[in-house]
Amino acid sequence: MTVRLGDTAPDFTAATTQGTINFHEWLGESWGVLFSHPKDFTPVCTTELGYVARIKPEFDKRNVKVIGLSVDPVDSHEKWEADIAETQGTPVNFPMIGDADKNVSNLYDMIHPNASDTMTVRSVFIIGPDKKIKLSITYPASTGRNFDEILRVIDSLQLTAKFKVATPANWTDGQDVIIGAAVSDDEAKTLFPQGWKTVKPYLRVLPQPK
Ligand code: BEZ
Repeated sequence: MTVRLGDTAPDFTAATTQGTINFHEWLGESWGVLFSHPKDFTPVCTTELGYVARIKPEFDKRNVKVIGLSVDPVDSHEKWEADIAETQGTPVNFPMIGDADKNVSNLYDMIHPNASDTMTVRSVFIIGPDKKIKLSITYPASTGRNFDEILRVIDSLQLTAKFKVATPANWTDGQDVIIGAAVSDDEAKTLFPQGWKTVKPYLRVLPQPK
């Protein structure tokens, strides 16, 4: 199944390292990040899970729940997590789905047969509180993900959900933003009475609204 931006994130019930989870119920009103790993006891995945565990407070601050997945079963994840705690310095502090029957992997199109018939690729999905898919990225197995980039996108998504703005290239929280293309100057005067800088009629810049 192909999952596209704006689609409702497929719901599922799955065994995880923190018990059985019904995905939508577990998400509740929170944002979510669902990310897949090719396989347990592999080096890149080990570093990724350790890193996400270390920066989990950053996800918590943004009201984002994180959940990992691989096609290995939960008892394998549990053994692997001991290694992750030992080698990465932080125990895995979020649920990991044991997707041995590949139900979730198939729902989210996480198996790309030209990469591997059996292992999931490195997928990342950001899901909004409305349960819609806000971002999906697919990385090759050999490239560890940049989870700071995922946090950066969440900052942008949460800002642009609140204000009619967009964020420029490489934007980070606190930097100037752009007035959305669909906003007329007349509407912008009401929305942003503090004013903005017109670089071009289609490129209007203002300090990040609070
Ligand atoms: C890794 O996590 O290191 C990995 C997993 C599958 C294929 C290649 C690398």
